Amino acid sequence: MITARSADAPAVSLRPVDQEITVPIASNLDIVSARQWGRTLALQGGCSPTEAALIAMAISELARNIVLYANRGEIVLSNVADGARRGVTVVARDEGPGIADVPRAIAGGHSTSGGLGLGLSGVRRLMDEFEISSEPGKGTTIIIKRWRR
Ligand SMILES: Nc1ncnc2c1ncn2[C@@H]1O[C@H](COP(=O)(O)OP(=O)(O)OP(=O)(O)O)[C@@H](O)[C@H]1O
Ligand SMILES: [Mg+2]
Repeated sequence: MITARSADAPAVSLRPVDQEITVPIASNLDIVSARQWGRTLALQGGCSPTEAALIAMAISELARNIVLYANRGEIVLSNVADGARRGVTVVARDEGPGIADVPRAIAGGHSTSGGLGLGLSGVRRLMDEFEISSEPGKGTTIIIKRWRR
């Protein structure tokens, strides 16, 4: 496993597509970094620029939530294969306050921070798979996948 540090000092230069990239998230700069690594990984895995942009957008929303609600956490990115299918998996995890009402949080339109409350519902729509587990006081883990078209 390789760790990418921040947007201005990336620790990763080259790695095979089957390796994971872990981006620690604790600041707005880290959000940019995670987004860029996601885009790079998606392009390396053969995604179109449009698909790579969608994946980058999803990563950015999950990373933004980590900074906003949990202060810190991490995003783990990897290219994955399932039979003939190829895609990108993103794991966003933190040990923050957790989400008290998960169905309401992913339904969209509800925010505990005065936002639009459209981040998670948007990510869910953009991706092919979306799994969330969250426990108040323990943290949140979200796993998303997008298969190459
Ligand atoms: N990592 C997290 N830890 C704790 N709570 C979270 C986390 N991510 C999301 N939430 C909760 O889920 C709600 C919905 O998140 P979502 O990203 O959809 O909307 P938002 O962040 O409120 O607004 P925005 O549209 O700007 O993203 C948040 O208001 C917050 O209460
Ligand atoms: Mg959000």
